[in-house]
Amino acid sequence: MESCAYPVFIGAGLLGDARVLRPFVEGGVAMLVSNETVAPLFADRVRGLLGDCRVHMVNLPDGERHKTLDSMARIINALAENRCGRDATVIALGGGVVGDVAGFAAACYQRGAGLVQIPTTLLAQVDAAVGGKTGVNHAAGKNLIGAFYQPKCVIADSDTLHSLDQRELRAGLAEVIKYGLIRDAGFFAWLEENMEKLLRRDSDALARAIGQSCRHKAAVVAADEKENTAAGGRALLNLGHTFAHAMEAALDYRALLHGEAVAVGLLMAADLSRRMGWLGDGAVARIERIIGEAGLPASPPAAMTVEKFLRFMPMDKKSRGGKMRLVLLEEIGRARVVADHDADGLRATLRAFTAERRGGV
Ligand SMILES: NC(=O)c1ccc[n+]([C@@H]2O[C@H](COP(=O)([O-])OP(=O)(O)OC[C@H]3O[C@@H](n4cnc5c(N)ncnc54)[C@H](O)[C@@H]3O)[C@@H](O)[C@H]2O)c1
Ligand SMILES: [Zn+2]
Repeated sequence: MESCAYPVFIGAGLLGDARVLRPFVEGGVAMLVSNETVAPLFADRVRGLLGDCRVHMVNLPDGERHKTLDSMARIINALAENRCGRDATVIALGGGVVGDVAGFAAACYQRGAGLVQIPTTLLAQVDAAVGGKTGVNHAAGKNLIGAFYQPKCVIADSDTLHSLDQRELRAGLAEVIKYGLIRDAGFFAWLEENMEKLLRRDSDALARAIGQSCRHKAAVVAADEKENTAAGGRALLNLGHTFAHAMEAALDYRALLHGEAVAVGLLMAADLSRRMGWLGDGAVARIERIIGEAGLPASPPAAMTVEKFLRFMPMDKKSRGGKMRLVLLEEIGRARVVADHDADGLRATLRAFTAERRGGV
């Protein structure tokens, strides 16, 4: 699909490489968007790559609660006040929050300014920056306002991850593990071998994990750019996410990072897949082991009950016509979207993962 055909540069030290960014700032005018945490770390290096360009800057406050229309308006205002034309390029430097807000501003400004994504968290490098989803939150829901909008390029420098909190790194690894589970058993096995290297941020291991993850995301998205394929397509990327979104929403997005919720969701999806008779005990044990080695949580916070899961799960975007669709595993490396999952099996999984079970019921 043509709109997906943009380069994704992945490697260590890219922010020191003059060849990667400047050719994609076609009009010579850049609006660098970052936040108060990330800008002091990398903004000067990005400016250094822009040489002869006119560079403006917007620095947003840090945090998911600033992923709002107000933040987007700040970027639009800066573009307008500096008389930027449609040929200006918005450069999103930061994690998924900055990428989503800045991407949405670029999509809307004069119906589409240029956009370059420079993701600086593992989650953004393997997920948020690739695939073209942009947007902001609304009081009524997360990512309620947004657009599909593709960048001119993505620059993922694995060296930027050295300053990331270990907890954020682990959360990103949950999405990396997910790609292995849904479509690449060989990659999953490689992750089992290399988890320790990834956790100590070995540059080569990180670059390989990011590269494989981006390739998988790009392949799935190219086949189903706007999430229209009922049979699977982009929906497969949501393995574990129906459970994860229920936990995040029920606990008001405070208890867990997204990747942590995904880790628990992957285990719940594996458990249900086993109850459906698809996944063997050995495969489930491998999934439990890798999530444990990544230092990710294995069970929902104590406040989650079966009732809360059931209340929040059907609200997930994958529900079509009121029917909940779940992504389950046929084996490690192969996933399938199912609408006809076994309701008793689902209840058993929910019971097994919540306090009721732990309390001895
Ligand atoms: N568009 C998509 O397809 C897509 C996919 C997945 C997630 N998302 C969105 O991404 C967001 C989550 O992204 P995230 O996990 O990157 O969170 P984030 O952007 O909040 O970043 C996490 C924290 O790390 C800090 N940080 C970023 N880079 C750093 C670095 N190199 N060194 C030190 N600190 C750094 C940030 O300032 C922040 O405090 C959510 O809003 C989610 O909805 C979007
Ligand atoms: Zn996710």
